[in-house]
Amino acid sequence: MDASKPAIEIKGLYKLYGHSPQTALDTLRDDPSATGAPGHFVALRNINLSIEPGKICVIMGLSGSGKSTLLRCINRLVDPTGGRILIGGREITGAGKKELRQIRSNSIGMVFQHFALLPHMSVVDNVAFGLRIAGMPRKERRAKASKALELVGLKDLDNRKPSSLSGGMRQRVGLARALVMDTPILLMDEPFSALDPLIREEMQQELLRLQATLNKTIVFVTHDPNEAATLGDRIAILLKGEVVQEGSPMDIVLSPANDYVRNFVKGIDVFKVLTAGQVMEADAGFQAAEWKKQDVVKVGADDLIAPYLDRLSSNSGPLAVVRNDGSFAGLVTGASLLKALAANISPPNRKPQSAAVAGTSGGKGMAEAMQRAV
Ligand SMILES: Nc1ncnc2c1ncn2[C@@H]1O[C@H](COP(=O)(O)OP(=O)(O)OP(=O)(O)O)[C@@H](O)[C@H]1O
Ligand SMILES: [Mg+2]
Repeated sequence: MDASKPAIEIKGLYKLYGHSPQTALDTLRDDPSATGAPGHFVALRNINLSIEPGKICVIMGLSGSGKSTLLRCINRLVDPTGGRILIGGREITGAGKKELRQIRSNSIGMVFQHFALLPHMSVVDNVAFGLRIAGMPRKERRAKASKALELVGLKDLDNRKPSSLSGGMRQRVGLARALVMDTPILLMDEPFSALDPLIREEMQQELLRLQATLNKTIVFVTHDPNEAATLGDRIAILLKGEVVQEGSPMDIVLSPANDYVRNFVKGIDVFKVLTAGQVMEADAGFQAAEWKKQDVVKVGADDLIAPYLDRLSSNSGPLAVVRNDGSFAGLVTGASLLKALAANISPPNRKPQSAAVAGTSGGKGMAEAMQRAV
């Protein structure tokens, strides 16, 4: 794969279901104002997305909005009706069977929602299954699979049968099975949605821990806004087969494009997205020379503020916000945090102002966040 190109580029992608989708697509493309194609179901409509290498892109949307269809177009488990998909600059939309098989085993791994483990096979053989199909000898593939199991925290369980594992453990096996193929891209379709909330959060942290060293390009489908905010470098929100907003979790939480997105993100804990740069005071009366001397904790402008809430609420000193070039950007104190939050609260008699935190109408979320902050 060419590392200078986006890992995945989706250009003008359409998927129509019906008796003659191609003809229906031509008609639809000729008339941009058309709401649909008669006799056909438009599952995806003019999707354009570019996903950078090493990033996690979350696809979020209501049931039936086209998330799985979009994900499955990326590895061509679903064939698009129109548009192009490029993987590392290489067009896969027209790839033949042999080339597709090669791309799937070398470039794109997939983790399914319901584990999809083979019940009669041991855990290690389940994980090694893709390597077996690729023709790797037994000893070698089992050694690799054992390593992948260790990576996901399942050491010494190689010979167990899937039925003897808990849901969380089975999902780890599913993850190991995708990781063992060592593909630069991972597609994950609601992989944690069958898990109970605590295990689910544990798996999210596990994925982030793995991602810190593996640096894969991940496309992750979820219904859950908090999961999206925890995992996503970018989030794309689908509605009826169209992307209604794409941006960083912060953009989406703080500036939802419309009511659909607003409803989706109102449950997101604002501290999952709020960064030091947004709640600092730039003119805190601190000279660059002084802050360097002081015993202050330094944070990056893009660092989340959440890990420092205890420190800020116990008046244990300010945080110095440092730019990428190492220069001083501003100071976060309990007061600056409250000021930034308060500027964006919209109780019935107060309109949000624009301040360090860009305009949000998430009054309730912000008010709750503020209560927790004080
Ligand atoms: N083979 C098919 N024939 C006709 N319609 C289909 C087919 N496959 C999917 N669809 C329709 O396409 C739409 C999008 O389906 P998709 O599975 O992508 O939704 P989703 O966003 O993943 O939903 P969920 O959150 O429930 O998994 C749905 O309305 C579905 O009924
Ligand atoms: Mg789905």
